[in-house]
Amino acid sequence: MPVLDALTEYEQQALDAIQSAADPQQIEAVRVEFLGKKKGRLKELQSVLGKVTAEERPVVGRRFNEIKNRVQSAWEQKRDQLARPATAAAAIDVTLPGVTLPVGSRHPIAQTIDEFKEIMGRLGFSVADGPEIEDERHNFEALNIPLDHPARDPLDNFYLATAGRTSDRPLLLRSQTSTVQIRVMEQTAPPVRIVSLGRVYRPDAIDATHSCMFHQMEGLMVDRGITMADLKTVLRLFATAYFGDDVHVRFRPSFFPFTEPSVEVDMAWGDGWLEIGGAGMVDPNVLRAVGYDPEEVTGFAFGLGVERFAMRRFAISDERGIRHFYDNDVRFLQQF
Ligand code: PHE
Repeated sequence: MPVLDALTEYEQQALDAIQSAADPQQIEAVRVEFLGKKKGRLKELQSVLGKVTAEERPVVGRRFNEIKNRVQSAWEQKRDQLARPATAAAAIDVTLPGVTLPVGSRHPIAQTIDEFKEIMGRLGFSVADGPEIEDERHNFEALNIPLDHPARDPLDNFYLATAGRTSDRPLLLRSQTSTVQIRVMEQTAPPVRIVSLGRVYRPDAIDATHSCMFHQMEGLMVDRGITMADLKTVLRLFATAYFGDDVHVRFRPSFFPFTEPSVEVDMAWGDGWLEIGGAGMVDPNVLRAVGYDPEEVTGFAFGLGVERFAMRRFAISDERGIRHFYDNDVRFLQQF
């Protein structure tokens, strides 16, 4: 029946036009063309309808009404949808919870460093900085570490391959913050009382307690009559300020080329002793290397691992250990 085909074709075209209407003017034009009462295409079809035979009429009439309703409601839906952007402001529900912007937080190591500086500042230590790219004088020689010392093995240090081209002496990433002891004493006459906090680099295999980059706090105090008792007092005051009164500090004999005598420093807080660094009385050779007179002044120095403290404080003891700090996983970092 050609009239049924015409109805189907009308429906298809009307729905296509509704679908592709992109703004209120276009959807209004679609209404005029397909549903308009005066000269729309629906009107045309209606007149064709009048010409069908009596027995065809019920079938065709029902079909006509179905299609008319479908097109009408598709049109209304689209009209409403297109009307919405015009009132976009009204579409914002101010009672909904806001969208939280992701703001960062201070890295736990940076927080620890800030706190260390603050504690040591209260004990009269000012903060000194030194470069992470060092020469052998500051990383080794002035620290009484001779050329044949195993600590200078190229395999145990990050020597810079470009150094030969940019300068006439070897350069390396500092393996310890003790470099800053030398830099400070070269620049200032005694007394000195400084801490230096920063990154150090060692080609260690990375595991739960080792990283090829980590942080140290170096401390140096030089004056007349400084003794091991001052060293232990400062370290105990520092440890209690950071952990609380229930912390214990102990020394074990050790060796460092730049201190004599030298000790390993352990701390107990909660369960078990934790090795936190090295310390000792500044070796007279070091004092001489920077032009100080070891007969006049004495001093102590210490170097503590910052991550060790942070891991204890934040109770990071799982199998990823120190690696958590450098994974840059916000789910970890957001917890502090
Ligand atoms: N620099 C030593 C280290 O990295 C620690 C230390 C510092 C020891 C100062 C004694 C005095 O292992």
